[in-house]
Amino acid sequence: MSTKQAQLDEIQAKILADDPTPELRRTATQLVFGDGPADADLVFIGEAPGKNEDLQGKPFVGAAGRFLNEMLEMIDLTRDDVYTTNIVKFRPPANRDPLPEEKSAFLPYLESQLEVIQPKLVITLGRHSLNCFLPDLSISKVHGQPKRFQGRVFLPLFHPAAALYNGGMRQTLIDDFALIPTILKKLESN
Ligand code: URA
Repeated sequence: MSTKQAQLDEIQAKILADDPTPELRRTATQLVFGDGPADADLVFIGEAPGKNEDLQGKPFVGAAGRFLNEMLEMIDLTRDDVYTTNIVKFRPPANRDPLPEEKSAFLPYLESQLEVIQPKLVITLGRHSLNCFLPDLSISKVHGQPKRFQGRVFLPLFHPAAALYNGGMRQTLIDDFALIPTILKKLESN
């Protein structure tokens, strides 16, 4: 097992030991920590697990996840090439929006995950994920534009669940997604 994977396992164990959101833990089936290679170049960050994620213990395994997989395929990648996770790591009851205090409770663990993985590009999915790192930016204004912040590069994208059934947003997300290989190449040549 890679050192990075062992470090990620430690963060996962620490969440269970610290129990930062006992209420969410009580109503959820299990912790949904993250999935993918511990040395991935791309990390996708969603909002919180939904029903399927809660049952399977993995992020993005429902309808939004299938759409994510289709877009990855479009740029010749699969889920085995990327790391996926969420800000909030237990399913909020009835899929309600995560509360501000739930997001801030999980932020240090998310930061630690990024610290271990050291991805070239952090892709935030939806406004909750974007605003965790860059609270002053509006997703409708900055989607598809890489942003440098505190030594990392973020690419804000619309959330696949929001875009799934909204024709305009869906196409915008697909177009933004298609920018990923060029952005990565540029980062690699810097
Ligand atoms: N939506 C999210 O934000 N995360 C998931 O893991 C699934 C759906």
